[in-house]
This record gives sequence, structure tokens and C-alpha cells, in this order.
Amino acid sequence: MAQYLALRDYAYIVLLDVVDGLPQGKALDLAQSAPVLGYDSALTGTNAYEETGDSDIVVITSGIARKPGMSRDDLLRTNMGIVRSVTEQAVRNSPNAIFIVVSNPLDAMCHVAFAAAGLPRERVIGMAGVLDSARFRAFIAEATDVSVEDVSAMVLGGHGDTMVPISRYSTVAGVPITDILEPEQVKALEERTASGGAEIVALLKTGSAYQAPGASVVEMIDSILLDKRRILPCSVYLQGEFGIDGLFVGVPVKLGHGGVRQIIPLSLLPEETAALQQSAAAVKDLVDTMARLASNGEPDA
Ligand code: LAC
Repeated sequence: MAQYLALRDYAYIVLLDVVDGLPQGKALDLAQSAPVLGYDSALTGTNAYEETGDSDIVVITSGIARKPGMSRDDLLRTNMGIVRSVTEQAVRNSPNAIFIVVSNPLDAMCHVAFAAAGLPRERVIGMAGVLDSARFRAFIAEATDVSVEDVSAMVLGGHGDTMVPISRYSTVAGVPITDILEPEQVKALEERTASGGAEIVALLKTGSAYQAPGASVVEMIDSILLDKRRILPCSVYLQGEFGIDGLFVGVPVKLGHGGVRQIIPLSLLPEETAALQQSAAAVKDLVDTMARLASNGEPDA
């Protein structure tokens, strides 16, 4: 993400990690590619939150990643403590920042960050829908043999096995893919999208995807800092929208100055609404599990 953002040439980027030397080394490496790639973005690495002070945007990627065979939900116990602690320290130093959460399980970690930050919902946003839609777009472009530039796609719901690709609103040059492809083909593309992260974890064996998640975060940052008002699917705290109340779930939002400027309503078919509700229920299960862990006095909870 830092690499893609540096190429944009408008940000001062601070990398932070608990491991001494790691962010410093990464920042130096990125700074030294600047003369070759031709950007002037300043980059530093640090282990001290003070150096991130007064950030406009804080991106939280902390926590462990999946190993082959694991679901994102298997990371809950470990990552909830990490994300809470990171958020508390970051918000203390950057009380005016907009927080973008990337850690998994994504929607549950948005709840953790939202509670720990104590910020309005416009300023705590989960990155998932942009990545899932990018995967869907890549698969649609391959299946229809057209440029990815002419494909747009919509994936709603939680960033887990129950995510909801909406093929009716996924198009090639404006034409819904449901009009172009056979139903079995559409279903196969939807399924590959929903397991897109796991496909990469299974191949890499250690660690999960880097490039597409990084690029997806930068698309969100562009829209916020440059006030582009892109409409992008993001995980946001819903308060009745889409019939969901009190949960972070992926829906289309308008991103600009201040963070989430609008939650965009969509008309959904009954089966699409049912799939979205099921995905929201999966997020709620995780939120309930976290509450149970916390009340049992789990050290990390
Ligand atoms: C993925 C991880 C980042 O979907 O959740 O690749």
C-alpha cells in the first residue's frame, strides 16, 4: 500500500510496526526506489506512535494473516487485541484522522476499531468491497475477454465466506453480466470471488494477498483525500440502512473529505436481500463471540 501511495506523490507516509527495524528498513527501501520511479513522497519508518501524529488517514493492517485452510474468522481471538491496542494508540496521536481497517476478520475488526477510536461512523471504514469487487472484475474480464477497464462489479456483505457478489449490478460496458454469460458461468465467477483470498493463501502457503489489498486501500485514500466522491463498496457501521442495524457490513458508500459522505441505497431482489442478511448474521456471530471472550476475561479480548 505504501508503495502504491508513494507513486501518487501527494502523501507523507509513515510506516509503523512493533518489530524494531522492519518499518525503518521498508521505508528506506521504498525511498530509494523514488529516484528510479520518479516520486517525491516522503517516507519514514518508526516504532513510535508519536511519529504518526496528526495523520489525516490511519490504515490498520496489524495482526496475523491466514494460513492455508484457515478462514478469516479463525484470526478473531488474536487480532481483536492487536487492533484494539493499535487503534487506541493511533487515535491518541491523530484524533482527527479517518481510520481505514484492513485487518481480518475485517468487519469484526471494524467493530473493534470503532469502539476503541470513539469516532463518528463516517471516520471508521473497512476495506473489503473494493478488493472483492476488484477480484470479481478481474475474473469477469478474463471470462468475457475484455479489458478490465470496461468491467465494473459490485460485491456487498461481510468480507468472509458469505460475501454477496451482485451480478445484476456487475457489468461489461454497462451491460449486466447476467445478460452476457450463462447462469453457471456467473455462479462460478461469484464463487471464485468469494473464495478469492483463500485461493491466494492456498498458493502462497505463508501470508495472504498483498498487492490487490494494497491497491484497494489506495483507491479509497485517493477518494477521501482528493475528495473524489467515488462510490465504492466499503464496510461501514449501518444504522438501519439495508435493513441492518448496529453492524459493520459492506455496502456502497460515497467517499470524500470527512470519510463516508453518504451510504448509497440499492434496490435488491428478495434473494439478494436474504443473502445480505445472512452475511450480516455471520458478522453478528463474530461480534457476539468477541463480547463473550471479553466477558470471560480473555487476556486479549
Ligand atoms: C484477502 C484478505 C486480505 O481477501 O482478506 O486477500
